[in-house]
Amino acid sequence: YRTIWLHPSDPTVVQIIDQRTLPFSFEIENISNWQMMATAIKEMHLRGAGLIGAAAGYGMYLATLDAGEKTFMKYLQYVADELKSTRPTAVNLARAVDIQIENLNKCSDKEGCITTSRKTAQLIADEDVLMCRKIGQNGLKLIEKISKRKNGNTVNILTHCNAGWLAFVDYGSATAPVYAAHDAGIAVHVWVDETRPRNQGARLTAWELLQHGVPHTVIPDNAGGHLMQHGMVDIVITGADRVTAAGDAANKIGTYLKALAAKDNDIPFYVALPSSTFDWEIDNGVDEIPIEQRDAREVKYISGFDGSGEREVLIMPEGSPVANYGFDVTPAGLITGLITEKGVCRATKQDIAALFGR
Ligand code: MRU
Repeated sequence: YRTIWLHPSDPTVVQIIDQRTLPFSFEIENISNWQMMATAIKEMHLRGAGLIGAAAGYGMYLATLDAGEKTFMKYLQYVADELKSTRPTAVNLARAVDIQIENLNKCSDKEGCITTSRKTAQLIADEDVLMCRKIGQNGLKLIEKISKRKNGNTVNILTHCNAGWLAFVDYGSATAPVYAAHDAGIAVHVWVDETRPRNQGARLTAWELLQHGVPHTVIPDNAGGHLMQHGMVDIVITGADRVTAAGDAANKIGTYLKALAAKDNDIPFYVALPSSTFDWEIDNGVDEIPIEQRDAREVKYISGFDGSGEREVLIMPEGSPVANYGFDVTPAGLITGLITEKGVCRATKQDIAALFGR
């Protein structure tokens, strides 16, 4: 499976894996208009920086199908703004929408625009797959080096949230090197942060790794520092939702604390990302990256499987207020390197610019 694709017998419908029910049941959702896609992104039927970018690309395509001829571009600009507002932190989403608008501005009649938009959506998705596959190959070298240094003993990798194939169209970012290493016969083991409040680590990363046969252990979010102090982590690899031109990286809330603990314990901390996750317009991530704040309900309630179905239970006083910041920013100074489709570089403005020829 990829995480998103056009319905094989009806190209006016997009199909996605509905991630809300994983790992307890595997369900595919049909998305037949852009409003459904906006809801799927906002309410996290699908999530992850690369995937919400691809989804927004397909959302724009679906909008071309019901746009009136006379107000075509006006309508699409409205949809573009709506889609962009669904999730503000990951830059892939805005990028995909902007690419669609740029290409749509070049076509003339409605039929031509629909075809252009469908092809653009597919290109964005295919590009995502290609970049993630290369991230896997480039990150593999880092794991290989550690494995050699350890004389083939298991390399312990800690990751946060889900930056696996479910967060992209395929392969993933942070876990792509892990899959590549495992497939190459290198002994690896992954410490999977559960990643409260939505538990993307426990629910999604663990499921992915289990399906692929990669040894792993789920840990509470606050266990990483202890493991690092006791030599149980060789490398940390996380994904990213937006990385500035100077290398500051926004990722799921709690990532910054892992970077601090890694620094204190001299453990390499890498961020894996495709170039679609760079925001070339900004340098200072802490000041300039918008941080999504989500519903209090995600913190107040926890949801899980009770043997017959999924249930939500309250885990705190209903009346207590909650803060639910979705992401935090790890300053470039705490990042050992960035693993990209072009190669691995230091998280500095100069090295990033050199790698991407900017
Ligand atoms: O809120 P989410 O699940 O869409 O958050 C995105 C993430 O999964 C993580 O921050 C991830 O590490 C980066 S996305 C590749």
